[in-house]
Amino acid sequence: MPSSPTSSTSSPERTSAIRGQADVVVKVNPPTPDEIGRLGSGSSLIGFLAPLTRPEIAERLRRSGVTGFAMEAVPRISRAQSMDALSSQANVAGYKAVLEAAERSTRFFPMLTTAAGTVKPATVLVLGVGVAGLQALATAKRLGARTTGFDVRPEVAEQVRSLGAQWLELGVEASGEGGYARALTDAEQAEQQRRLTEAVAGFDVVITTALVPGRPAPRLVTAEAVRRMRPGSVVVDLAGETGGNCELTVPGETVVRHDVTIAAPANLPATMPEHASELYARNVLALLELMLNDGEFAPDPADEIIAACRVTGASAELSEVA
Ligand code: NAI
Repeated sequence: MPSSPTSSTSSPERTSAIRGQADVVVKVNPPTPDEIGRLGSGSSLIGFLAPLTRPEIAERLRRSGVTGFAMEAVPRISRAQSMDALSSQANVAGYKAVLEAAERSTRFFPMLTTAAGTVKPATVLVLGVGVAGLQALATAKRLGARTTGFDVRPEVAEQVRSLGAQWLELGVEASGEGGYARALTDAEQAEQQRRLTEAVAGFDVVITTALVPGRPAPRLVTAEAVRRMRPGSVVVDLAGETGGNCELTVPGETVVRHDVTIAAPANLPATMPEHASELYARNVLALLELMLNDGEFAPDPADEIIAACRVTGASAELSEVA
């Protein structure tokens, strides 16, 4: 996200003082203990609060008397679409993942017919076709690549085909709750890895986005699969922050293994700050508007969206309402 210009009216001390007096503070990333300590008791904090992976944050907020609203816990229902920051940021990440791949690839994405000969289009495989994966497929297609997608949720096949991509049939299915995937059993995971090890070798670019909420990222691309890819191929792993979908991923870094470039960029939305910030701001605004009653900040604990994203707070009875 872009940093605001420094001036005497926006010094860190002043920002901190304002934060201490504010009824509602909005952030992007989870707060540090120090930041929580500077929030006033009775205030509210809205942002990515990692309720599933870092429960200590919710606990700290609770002890400070601060009510937290986690953007990642906004439910995937129609009424909440405008507040869905996971989706808005995943769109940015999916788009940028393809640009990263194209940048690092030793090959063109589009087919080219030139006087010096014809260049075949790049083949791009997207593993995990949620919001980021769909955007990656669409972006790679626009660049002229031949695209293929795979997900453990079979209902995604139709969406993949509607983007002009092929569906990779692996025979592994794992639909879970709320539109998300469930974690695979050990046997299913081994079978998926075995089948993918054979399939992956035929692609110039593999983009992985597979996540299971609150769990380490599923391991999809083994070291052996990378070894079988052609030299100059590229893997872009969007799941680096939760351990990576590729066995050889180094989170936050780009490494070359077996002549294959494996990039696991951290926080891709931050590399496109203008639109990422604009979209996030609209998500937060939509949530804030839901929390207003006659112009007063008064989140209704009985509202399905508010109940779902509220992670702490004075009313422990909230979960009973939900
Ligand atoms: P996500 O970020 O949790 O996961 C990304 C993808 O990885 C998912 O499609 C998941 O099925 C897949 N995956 C997990 N384990 C895998 C494995 N072992 N192998 C291959 N793929 C694996 O998902 P995201 O992008 O947050 O979307 C989750 C669902 O929510 C989707 O069905 C999406 O269409 C839906 N959605 C609904 C909205 C609404 O109704 N308001 C808004 C946004 C998303």
